[in-house]
Amino acid sequence: MTEIDSFIEGLPKVELHLHIEGSLEPELMFSLAQRNKVNLPFKSIEEVRKAYNFSNLQDFLNIYYQGMGVLLTEQDFYDLTWAYIERCASNHVIHTEIFFDPQGHTERGVKFETVLNGITRALDDGKKKLGISSKVIMCFLRHLSEEDAFKTLEQALPYKDRIIGVGLDSSEKGFPPSKFERVFAKARAAGFLIVAHAGEEGPPEYVWEALDKLKVNRIDHGNRSLEDEKLVARLVRDGMALTVCPLSNLKLCVVKDMRDHPLKKMLELGLKACVNSDDPAYFGGYMNDNYKAVSNALSLTKENLLTLARNSVAASFLSNAEKEALLQQVNAYGRA
Ligand code: ADE
Ligand code: ZN
Repeated sequence: MTEIDSFIEGLPKVELHLHIEGSLEPELMFSLAQRNKVNLPFKSIEEVRKAYNFSNLQDFLNIYYQGMGVLLTEQDFYDLTWAYIERCASNHVIHTEIFFDPQGHTERGVKFETVLNGITRALDDGKKKLGISSKVIMCFLRHLSEEDAFKTLEQALPYKDRIIGVGLDSSEKGFPPSKFERVFAKARAAGFLIVAHAGEEGPPEYVWEALDKLKVNRIDHGNRSLEDEKLVARLVRDGMALTVCPLSNLKLCVVKDMRDHPLKKMLELGLKACVNSDDPAYFGGYMNDNYKAVSNALSLTKENLLTLARNSVAASFLSNAEKEALLQQVNAYGRA
């Protein structure tokens, strides 16, 4: 292993952009399909992996929504989340803020509470058994209606103590953040923090809308912000974090080659970018793989890598005291 790869493995990392349903590995998909007697359109695990060839976001989403159809019981959501937490441990991820897509489950007849209970029970065990801290963010599916998002927000209110924020994901083009301005205003008023996927495939205008209409605390992806100088200046001025996902960008053809990835440029411009895995079971790797792929392609330095790790600590939804403790861990690693 190269020196930089082993530096990455040991680096204490924070993940801020992870769809828990996107951590469903084909092996678990098959075993849950069997347990729940759900038919899958694939004969083998190899066939599933072969289907993971995407030319854009929608290509991926079609398979992603189909895959989550095996998740039915609280134990299924526990098993899914626990498997991800074990990956956090092996990737030296010390804190994670995960998304879930309630509408992907409630529209199949699975109760909101079933999903959330399974996820949070595994996260609680992650803290108790492995010392990994976590937060939960609920995302609205932007291809569905505003009315459906309002309904989902209502369902979340009784569980506000277990959900730190709300986000916006799914098909981006044609579904601008402004469509959900009123839902996010209500979520903000209820005390949720706000994030939104923007500028992954969609234009810089969607990033402006996420800032000005949804009033986000972080932007998920944000790659296409670089096409708009004024937007870059605004993001730098606000110290707005971008949760960047290198392997996702490659797999969904947001970049043609990892050497074209804008991450290093983002850091040079003073943007608060950080590295995340998005949907690791579908995109070919967890946190270490993402850091290694982008670091090797762009020849990132140890100082760049430490900056990325510090950016994710700073952009997390932890308290200032908790952030300070994690920063100390990153800084101590940098000195050692
Ligand atoms: N849902 C899961 N992963 C996503 C992504 N990368 N972009 C938009 N929606 C998603
Ligand atoms: Zn995402």
